[in-house]
Order: sequence, then structure tokens, then C-alpha cells
Amino acid sequence: MVIIQGVDEGREAATAAMWDGADYERLASRFAPAGHAVAAAVEAAGAPPGTVLDLAAGTGTVAQAMARQGRRVEATDIAPGLVATGRAQTDAQALDVRWRVAAMDDLDERGAYAAVTSSFGIIFSPEPAATLRRVHDALVPGGVVALSAWAPDGYVARMSAAMGARLSEPGRTAATAWVPWGDPAVLTDRLGSAGFVDVRVVRRRLPWRFASVDEAVDLLFEASPGHVAAARFSGDGAGLRGVVRAHLLDFAGLSDSGSAVDTEAAYVLASARRPVG
Ligand SMILES: C[S@@+](CC[C@H](N)C(=O)[O-])C[C@H]1O[C@@H](n2cnc3c(N)ncnc32)[C@H](O)[C@@H]1O
Repeated sequence: MVIIQGVDEGREAATAAMWDGADYERLASRFAPAGHAVAAAVEAAGAPPGTVLDLAAGTGTVAQAMARQGRRVEATDIAPGLVATGRAQTDAQALDVRWRVAAMDDLDERGAYAAVTSSFGIIFSPEPAATLRRVHDALVPGGVVALSAWAPDGYVARMSAAMGARLSEPGRTAATAWVPWGDPAVLTDRLGSAGFVDVRVVRRRLPWRFASVDEAVDLLFEASPGHVAAARFSGDGAGLRGVVRAHLLDFAGLSDSGSAVDTEAAYVLASARRPVG
């Protein structure tokens, strides 16, 4: 998705308002297989018993999966509306998830969590190195971080680059600042520099299927907070829709906006461990 993070003072408030400014839940269900993979990666990496923190949790795809795996879960996100939706869902299912509105850079717990997860969330950190260091310090020794990030050559990153090219600064930079997280070499280096060991990065694919190209474009401009914000602040909604439509036609090898879309959105799934010693 194209993301226009808040870019000046009041950045956290602007970021929260942006993420609450679309019908994100509809997109979250599309991203859910990746969130479930992140939750599975926590156990596959051998996380010790204990509480899991889902960072930039959105409406709680990973938090719910971790709770169903028997974990006690804390979930935080900068957007109050998404937290309220997530809390309502986990309460309705009597899942053991404690929700809090918080920016990821407010994380200051030490040695508190068996695992920290973030599916397409930590990639929006304004300060990747500092955030990863905070995650490292928040884990118990032997604790596991698991995350997902869009692959730079996959649909979401490519589409964001196409749309970003039409935006003026600072929207252009903000739209793609998260892309390096999905580069296995960059991600491995970032995790290692933050003190993690046993780094594992694998490539995965999300199905990206729609009845038509227009349905796919409509979903993005209704449910993706970055698209909604970009259309509003650029005043060029029709132009941006045209760019995203043309890009999807090209990416999926289609010639007609009425054609069904059956493609994939590549991402990387990563896990790593805080050393025991
Ligand atoms: C693409 S959504 C992913 C949400 C969820 N993890 C999922 O899988 O559906 C990105 C999330 O990051 C959150 N976010 C963005 N910047 C943040 C920040 N600085 N601190 C905390 N959360 C942030 C947004 O509010 C949003 O919920």
C-alpha cells in the first residue's frame, strides 16, 4: 500500500489520523495469511513461554492468532480507531488480548516479552534502527521477533513506487520509505545490527485475486489509508487511480479493466532471536 506518514510536527497525530481514515479492516482481511504466518513463525523459531507483544497491531490479525495459539497477548497501535475495532473483536471472541494505543517508538519495556510480532507494521517506523533496538531490549533473552514486509519486487512495493512517482515531495518519499524492509539483505543487516541472532528471512506470496481490475482499485482507494490520504492531499484522486489501474493491468498482464485479477503480492517473513548470553 502507498503510505503517506505524517511528515512534520504533530507527526504521531497525523499518522494516527491517516491510519484511521479508511476502511482498513477490509484490507486487513486480505493481509491475514501473512499475519498468520508471522504468528506461526514465533512458535517455529522456538520462542520461550510468555507474553507476546503485537506491535502496530492494526485490528489484530496476529494478536488474535497468537491468542488462539494459547499466548497471552498485548497489542498496541498508534491509531485509536483500529485499536477500538481490534479490542471489540477480541472481546467478542473472549481472546486474551490487552489493547493499548501507543506509537511503536514509545516501547520502553525491558525483558518483558517472549516474542514481539509485527505484520506489515514495524516497516512504518520512522526510525528503523532505534525501533529494532527497542524491540530487542523488550524481549527476554532467547525471545523472538517475527515480522512481515513487502518484497521490493512484489506487487505492493511496485504499485507504491508507481503511485509515488506521481506524488510531489514529501509524499513521494513517504510512499516508499518502508520498501527496504522487504530486501532480505537489508533486513538481515538491520536485525543483526540491533543485536539479533538466528536471523531467518523467507519469501512468501499473498493471493491478490479480484473479480475485476476496477474492484481491486476500488478496494485500495476505500480501504488503504495511504491511498485515501494520497488522493485527498494531492487533490489528484482520479490521476492516482489511473496510475494504480494501469500498473495493475501491466503487473497482472491484462488489457481490460473488467478482467478478473489473479496475481500475487510477494512479501518476506522474518524471525530472529535475542541472544541468551
Ligand atoms: C498495514 S497496517 C498492519 C496492521 C496489522 N499488523 C495487520 O497485519 O493488519 C500498519 C499498521 O501500522 C500502524 N502504525 C503506523 N505507524 C505507526 C507507529 N509509528 N506506531 C505504531 N503503529 C503504527 C498503523 O496504525 C497500522 O495499524
